[in-house]
Amino acid sequence: MKPVKVGLLGLGTVGGGTVNVLRRNAEEITRRAGRGIQVTHASARDLKKARICSTEGIRLTAQPLEVVNDPEVKIVVELIGGTELARDLVNRAIANGKHVVTANKALIARYGNEIFNAARKQGVMVAFEAAVAGGIPIIKAIREGLAGNRIEWLAGIINGTGNFILTAMRDEGRDFADVLAEAQRLGYAEADPTFDVEGIDAAHKLTILAAIAFGIPLQFDKVYTEGITRITRADVGYAEQLGYRIKHLAIARRAAAGIELRVHPTLIPERRLIANVDGVMNAVVVMGDAVGPTLYYGAGAGAEPTASAVVADLVDVVRVLTSDPENRVPHLAFQPDALSDLPILPMDQVETAYYLRLQAADRPGVLADVTRILADQDISIESILQKEPLAGESEVPIILLTHRTLEKNMNQAISRIEVLSSISAKVMRIRLEQLSR
Ligand code: NDP
Ligand code: HSE
Repeated sequence: MKPVKVGLLGLGTVGGGTVNVLRRNAEEITRRAGRGIQVTHASARDLKKARICSTEGIRLTAQPLEVVNDPEVKIVVELIGGTELARDLVNRAIANGKHVVTANKALIARYGNEIFNAARKQGVMVAFEAAVAGGIPIIKAIREGLAGNRIEWLAGIINGTGNFILTAMRDEGRDFADVLAEAQRLGYAEADPTFDVEGIDAAHKLTILAAIAFGIPLQFDKVYTEGITRITRADVGYAEQLGYRIKHLAIARRAAAGIELRVHPTLIPERRLIANVDGVMNAVVVMGDAVGPTLYYGAGAGAEPTASAVVADLVDVVRVLTSDPENRVPHLAFQPDALSDLPILPMDQVETAYYLRLQAADRPGVLADVTRILADQDISIESILQKEPLAGESEVPIILLTHRTLEKNMNQAISRIEVLSSISAKVMRIRLEQLSR
């Protein structure tokens, strides 16, 4: 059988990695897919730029629409990034009856509902394994491997750049900006790196994971999102003294009143496997009612790890090219007419434990004032760490770990603590999860 012709939009980190993996592993990929997979047409902005892959045998254009409208191309792989142009190109490819593979989590999180609808009407597939956690086949694992389970919660380190930065700050004492620049050089960061460090990229990915885990529509605008920019080396050190690691976690949890969707720095007990996931590696823990906890680990960004997921999607699409569209795996795991309208909980209804760091005057009664406020809000303290004042200083950091409480109660307590005359700075609050059940 003739090879399937693929059109590639973007020849950057992931596009170049995809060409290299398809070429290097062509024989095995053909044996798996049943047909060869050949990139015949590709687009990039600057056709003179040096590439990480050879473009021999590939027709190049600076006009991505030419690829999408090429009648020979059966599958369009979108690796441009961003939302608006990517949305137009993907919708055009679908309207032209082509299958689509994309690594673009921003596109799927924001426009996935519309794109999957259009794809269903046209009977084409839109595959997006590379959009979440780079090379880890987490979409397939949840959508297919765990299809027998009611998913209770999932929690993941799903931004490689953020984890790379936190790890280097902790292990090497390096500066935030310096490590971010290295992540950019290595091709891990988004075109706009604030997406990585402010948690937006992780929120895109969490939107997708939650949809396939709980059978809910994609609802990016309802994810509570906090980045890693406020984390200080001091917090990382105090957390370690208390037996915890600070990780940037994305959490989706089924609670009694709805679904929690949140991305924020989180203290995790250091004995948990996920607390030891370092550098650009990602990991996702998924709790299913039948299987219990499962953990998925691997490279979360980079050319070939991401290409691994793109190529797996290509193989999947090629395998089902001739199958009845009605009998394919649904894009978002659940049948499209069987989605649930479970509400997404506002953040003040979320229950979690907390790490609090206060900058307090070193005088009697300060701690008593703070603990009285916490008690008034029904917040129980698990442990307290008070450091010695530095020579010549009259203030001390006080670190408190609390038991679980409603975010609303904690917000009220923090507002009251911050106006005490003995407290000199904003309270640093980091959420804490045991991830044990
Ligand atoms: P790059 O910036 O390395 O590559 C983007 C490619 O698209 C380049 O070839 C660029 O052309 C081309 N391009 C960009 N804008 C336009 C435009 N307006 N018109 C035509 N072509 C354009 O990005 P990545 O490969 O890193 O990322 C691609 C996608 O994959 C993104 O959605 C990203 O979020 C996702 N992703 C990235 C991962 C990674 O590790 N990098 C991991 C998982 C997902 P030119 O080269 O000429 O500038
Ligand atoms: N910028 C993303 C990250 C790429 O660092 O995780 C992978 O999605």
